[in-house]
Amino acid sequence: MREKSQEGSVGSSTKKKWSSLMPFFVALVVVAEIAFLTRLDMANNAFLVHTWTNTFYYPSMDSLSSLVVGGRQEGFDLSGQDEINCEDWLEREDSVVFSRDFDKDPVLVSGAEKDWRSCSVACKFTHNVGPDKKPDAQFGLPHDPVIAGVLRSMEASTYYAENNLAQARRRGYKVVMTTSLSSDVPVGYFSWAEYDIMAPIRSKTEDALAAAFISNCGARNFRLQALDMLEKLNIKIDSYGGCHRNRDGRVDKVETLKHYKFSLAFENSNEEDYVTEKYFQSLVAGTIPVVVGAPNIQDFAPSSGSILHIKEQSDVRSIAKTMKYLAENPDAYNQSLRWKYEGPSDSFKALVDMAAVHSSCRLCIHLATKIREQEERSIRFQKRPCNCTRGVGTVYHLFVRERGRFEMESIFLRSSNLTLKALETAVLTKFKSLNHIPIWKQERPQSIRGGDELKVYRIYPVNLTQRQALYSFQFSSDADFGIYVERNPCAKFEVIFV
Ligand SMILES: *[C@@H]1O[C@H](CO)[C@@H](O)[C@H](O)[C@H]1NC(C)=O
Ligand SMILES: *[C@@H]1O[C@H](CO)[C@@H](O)[C@H](O)[C@H]1NC(C)=O
Ligand SMILES: *[C@@H]1O[C@H](CO)[C@@H](O)[C@H](O)[C@H]1NC(C)=O
Repeated sequence: MREKSQEGSVGSSTKKKWSSLMPFFVALVVVAEIAFLTRLDMANNAFLVHTWTNTFYYPSMDSLSSLVVGGRQEGFDLSGQDEINCEDWLEREDSVVFSRDFDKDPVLVSGAEKDWRSCSVACKFTHNVGPDKKPDAQFGLPHDPVIAGVLRSMEASTYYAENNLAQARRRGYKVVMTTSLSSDVPVGYFSWAEYDIMAPIRSKTEDALAAAFISNCGARNFRLQALDMLEKLNIKIDSYGGCHRNRDGRVDKVETLKHYKFSLAFENSNEEDYVTEKYFQSLVAGTIPVVVGAPNIQDFAPSSGSILHIKEQSDVRSIAKTMKYLAENPDAYNQSLRWKYEGPSDSFKALVDMAAVHSSCRLCIHLATKIREQEERSIRFQKRPCNCTRGVGTVYHLFVRERGRFEMESIFLRSSNLTLKALETAVLTKFKSLNHIPIWKQERPQSIRGGDELKVYRIYPVNLTQRQALYSFQFSSDADFGIYVERNPCAKFEVIFV
């Protein structure tokens, strides 16, 4: 509107006058650019460049940023370094050496015995720490406040209340390792190494619809009631476990399951993330798991529609109906198992890939990360610039590592492009330039290793739990991400490739 009315009021002769002045303006801008370049060369006073660049208008931010970035920054002595760009400058200024070299002085954990040679941070478990040394951590509750107490257990907190995260923290454990993906270092029942998840499907030769291996008949959930109800609804079940046994239990579980359309993967407690071998063996066997257990079992599904979940007793009737339907409709049944042909979802791969790195190594990475964070609070680290402003734009220095590895890589983002897309591009560019091989490459079954291309699944701030990283955390917008970067100098991220 404003432009239009102005145009109306300005006569054509005035317009002409302005346009005849255009070459002059162009010349002025060119002169300004030349002057600017010369100034960059000559100026020894960073302050000069700073105020000077802010005084002028530039036609193209893009053509300029490459010039401006060659300049100087107020307050930092770059004498003799005129050509250095922000990235190189930050790389140098931000690289404060940590006082502890883990190669010489490995993360030390007492209460077990092993050298974790393949871990990305040097890591030693020992029963004999020696009199002159203190371990960084110890399994159990230490008497020494400097040593981090580690609780490690794969049991459900329904039965072992001490495994409850809040309770363990109250008791003083610094590091909790349980099946909960919210624990510091999750220890799951799953891994590519333990389960041949992509094993081919066998023909379903058994008459009974489902097989069950349930031995504890007194579980604290409704699994026994569910079993009763399914039987009453005429779902034929072969039971190999102690409860309702009608088959000889001395069989190879996975081999046996392969010949059934369904497997009753009934856990003994319904606890978040508590998913045991019952479930993963069903996946290996290529039978559809019917689950009583973790309320979030769908997070563990190899693809959508691949498992049946009895959330509560009132679901049993409809699940029985679905089982009958699938059993009578081979195409629909086959659809539920299509992940066996096409590969599981990225979400499933990202979950199981976590276990490509042994939990003991992940413990060491966790401890080493905490040790470094502690040091980063020191004044030496507070002095790192972490960003670099040259005239029109700021370059931010960020750090990123792959989940399961320790050392960080540098990436840089510009204030003109402080977006999630730019973050992903910067991460991919960086890791491609390093010829990075994802940590799960040798662990995953051959058929789902993919090619050489890197694909980002998640990028999240270091120190989030795996539950947050995989399922709940997300920057809500580019602006949200921008604020995070501004408020967290030298922000550190972790990337999951799939
Ligand atoms: C099941 O589906 C896959 C493709 O998803 C196909 O290759 C296979 O032949 C199908 N099997 C049956 C028994 O229909
Ligand atoms: C911002 O980053 C995206 C992703 O890296 C890139 O495609 C785009 O060209 C960039 N835009 C600018 C203005 O630099
Ligand atoms: C650059 O980093 C400094 C120190 O970390 C911080 O105070 C400042 O706000 C940052 N500048 C921008 C533009 O984010």
